Amino acid sequence: MTTLLPVYERDLVIVSGKGALLTDSAGNTYLDFAAGIGVNGLGYGNSKVVSAIKKQASRLIHSSNLYFTEPVTRLADALVKASFPARVFFTNSGTESVEAAIKFARRIGNASGRTELVAFEGGFHGRTMGALSITWKEKYRAPFEPLVPGTRFCPWNDLGAAKGMIGPKTAAVFIEPVQGEGGIRVAPEDFLQGLSDLCRETGALLVSDEVQCGLGRTGALFAYERAHIRPDIVTLAKPLGGGLPLGAVLLREELAGALQVGDHGSTFGGNPVAAAASLVIMDRLTSGGFLGKVEKKGKMLLRNLRAMQRKYPKQIRDVRGLGLMFGIELTGPASPIVAGLRARGILATKAGEKVLRLLPPLVVKRSELRSFLVAFDDVLSKGIGMQLEGGGGAVA
Ligand SMILES: Cc1ncc(COP(=O)(O)O)c(C=O)c1O
Repeated sequence: MTTLLPVYERDLVIVSGKGALLTDSAGNTYLDFAAGIGVNGLGYGNSKVVSAIKKQASRLIHSSNLYFTEPVTRLADALVKASFPARVFFTNSGTESVEAAIKFARRIGNASGRTELVAFEGGFHGRTMGALSITWKEKYRAPFEPLVPGTRFCPWNDLGAAKGMIGPKTAAVFIEPVQGEGGIRVAPEDFLQGLSDLCRETGALLVSDEVQCGLGRTGALFAYERAHIRPDIVTLAKPLGGGLPLGAVLLREELAGALQVGDHGSTFGGNPVAAAASLVIMDRLTSGGFLGKVEKKGKMLLRNLRAMQRKYPKQIRDVRGLGLMFGIELTGPASPIVAGLRARGILATKAGEKVLRLLPPLVVKRSELRSFLVAFDDVLSKGIGMQLEGGGGAVA
């Protein structure tokens, strides 16, 4: 019994973490392939992150956005150095980054009558009213309507449809280069390039929502890089603060002049302690060889998952992903597989009903990837989650 509002389905009580491992209140240890839903890129208890937090907390925890602080200014510089000439706005979460991006796009577009937002089928951008308005799943949106008007959903990977939707009224087009909640769907490079061209031709802004797929998750620092495009706006959060709440919006420098004092703000956005942690994260992500290792480990995992698909074709329909962001589309529901893995000491999560989502910490060891594969093989070999012939239920 708990006094917490029951909007999450949960039962485990987590007490500590180290590396890719989490320990619950009963003393059980789990290999965590959810990584705080993509937050704990450097795993748990990273000593440099912990010491940066301690050091900054003892100097200054908060001073408000009425003043500059050194860690926040340095972090903005680090993000711009790693991306493109831009101005940075800090937030506390993914949905707030998206919310800010919507406002910036409106602020910029309103003068020329651009008020509409285009997003994609399967996309997820957050739970606050603006971000929810461009989130695809009916189940999330319907109970809260009416939402922000003038939003349209375009079929995924359909440039023809996008051409029909993006026009002189479009303020911005929001895309996740790899859809997370939508089932780990990788946007093909030519689709991203086509969208970028369409935006340039029509004057709409292109927003790359990298809250889940950004900051090293796909093996590149930013997921848009793969398509050699430069978005107008990038939204970030999840791993940015090393586990502390921190998000950011990068707005292309030439556009930043449209935003004036008072146009937007946030009491906590850009907290110096979170920024100090984030400087460690950015340093690690941009240090030589780190992303190459993510890519290599991802390739090893992908190879093995593909082999697993060949071994269990009745249970695995598709394996897709990039870097260390994978979706395993099953023929039956993913929940029994998640439960089967947990019984074997592995935590993972779903992305939709039939997709098992893997987001291990970027620092996961090869031996830990192998442990996961052994447990996953065991779950599948027992027929767990297998859809029974004749439309019956699933083997639990
Ligand atoms: C692509 C994307 N955008 C936005 C969000 C919202 O982030 P938050 O839960 O931090 O508000 C998420 C969360 O999963 C996400 O995956």
